[in-house]
Amino acid sequence: MRIALFLLLSASLFAQRPNTNYDESKAGTYTLPDLLGSGPWPARRAEILKLYETHVFGRAIAETLPVVATVKATGPNWREVTLSFSGQGKQKAINILIVTPPGAKKPVPVVVCLSFTPIATVLSGNSRWPLDVFAKHGYAVITAHYTDFFADVKDGKPDSILSLLPTDETTNAMSAWAWGMSRMFDYALTQKDLDGKRIAVAGHSRLGKAALWAGATDQRFAAVISNDSGEGGAAISRRIIGEHVADLNKNFPHWFTGNFKGYSQSVNELPVDSHMLLALAAPRPLYVASASEDLWADPLGELLALTEASKVYEVLGVPERTAYHIRPGKHDITAYDWERYLRFLKATLR
Ligand code: GCU
Repeated sequence: MRIALFLLLSASLFAQRPNTNYDESKAGTYTLPDLLGSGPWPARRAEILKLYETHVFGRAIAETLPVVATVKATGPNWREVTLSFSGQGKQKAINILIVTPPGAKKPVPVVVCLSFTPIATVLSGNSRWPLDVFAKHGYAVITAHYTDFFADVKDGKPDSILSLLPTDETTNAMSAWAWGMSRMFDYALTQKDLDGKRIAVAGHSRLGKAALWAGATDQRFAAVISNDSGEGGAAISRRIIGEHVADLNKNFPHWFTGNFKGYSQSVNELPVDSHMLLALAAPRPLYVASASEDLWADPLGELLALTEASKVYEVLGVPERTAYHIRPGKHDITAYDWERYLRFLKATLR
């Protein structure tokens, strides 16, 4: 594993709830669920995926929907495309933005990454979208405004893309966002200027959790990147530090499947932990990153989970395909992060 530890974890504390623990000495002791099992990895992987479907994310949605794609607007090195999905007698139009590196002479690799803000903001000088860094490394990016797939509110499901799919009580917002990223992948495959063999999935924070789930459920993604995904993402849930399963269930009951709520007070009973979610990316390149002041997301818990997940990469004979960095500063995704992700993708996706 490649690790760049630039700063010791900052001691500055910020409270998201009165009893949140940020003291490493009180993070508790725990035993992680077994990762490797006793059989071959593909069989163990299938078991872990099933556990994640049942207890955390809900069913991995295999269905697609009929879709009509229309180019809505174009500009220098970008195009906006409307994907009109239909299902269950309803329609939903979602605009995606594709930004390509200037002057490319052959199909370029791609990062699929949802945006927290409307896609117009991606083009208008946005620190989370350093398009010059993508251009420098010859990478395209495909994004969409994440709320178009599922508005990020407690009662968002009836109006979400999930309402066009067969009824399923288990799916929720994370499922919808992950499904959306897979549909962005599908569209990329139809585009001659994009290289369908080198499409990575990435996400920041809650969208990092969704990106990990998309990478787990859709193995066509050639690489997986988690930026500050924290609890429910890369951070080990059993560590009592920063955000806790109980916080996720209380504040964001629409993100995960109903069964997940049963673990708010009994996280040690959860049959999975984040090292297993990360390992679902194997043997594909996997990058996890944290920010030093983002204690809510438990940077050390993210690194520990990746260290455990790396054992699968070792067993599979590809130990060089995991990477980690901790960036000085706050919860965010920045040019610094993207620079490292794109260098890693260039080194591992050939
Ligand atoms: C909240 C939430 C986190 C999430 C973050 C984000 O802080 O508690 O789990 O990752 O929002 O998406 O920015």
